[in-house]
Amino acid sequence: MVRSIGADHVVDYAREDFTRKDRRYDFILDNVANHSLSDLRRALAPTGTLVPNGGGFDNRWFAGGGRVVGAHVLDRFVSHTLRPFLVSPKLEDLVVLKELIEAGKVTPVIDRVYPLSEASQAIGHVGGGHARGKVAVTV
Ligand SMILES: NC(=O)c1ccc[n+]([C@@H]2O[C@H](COP(=O)([O-])OP(=O)(O)OC[C@H]3O[C@@H](n4cnc5c(N)ncnc54)[C@H](OP(=O)(O)O)[C@@H]3O)[C@@H](O)[C@H]2O)c1
Repeated sequence: MVRSIGADHVVDYAREDFTRKDRRYDFILDNVANHSLSDLRRALAPTGTLVPNGGGFDNRWFAGGGRVVGAHVLDRFVSHTLRPFLVSPKLEDLVVLKELIEAGKVTPVIDRVYPLSEASQAIGHVGGGHARGKVAVTV
């Protein structure tokens, strides 16, 4: 699926740990938080950028919060750029996304669509951590 939407190189996390290989990346968007910041930095090119984006939900109190704070602090002292971000949906951004989709430059992947009456099942499916793409609720 990932190749079909344009990826040139795909890593299967069940078979290999990308932080233990020789390849170095200019940009890592970490959606999972199952590697330490130092492991992720080892996989970055010397002036690469790491965005710790979420995950870490096995930590009941802080989720990925500790890594976000750690990245902020480290960012001042290392050659890498470590920048957490928090999405804030804006109409202008959604219009740009819509145009990219219409131009065929971004391919959205919808895993499942639920009616509003089944919103709790939709949330349960996302909470399982293996939704393949996005989960939509129709209103
Ligand atoms: N910063 C923000 O403002 C913001 C906003 C929204 C979401 N987020 C974060 O973005 C992340 C992605 O969200 P999501 O909605 O796409 O849901 P998600 O449930 O985190 O993503 C599901 C996907 O993750 C893959 N996956 C599960 N374990 C993995 C592992 N150990 N290594 C690599 N891939 C793994 C699954 O593939 P398999 O089925 O093959 O395991 C599935 O394709 C979450 O951490 C969320 O908290 C951040």
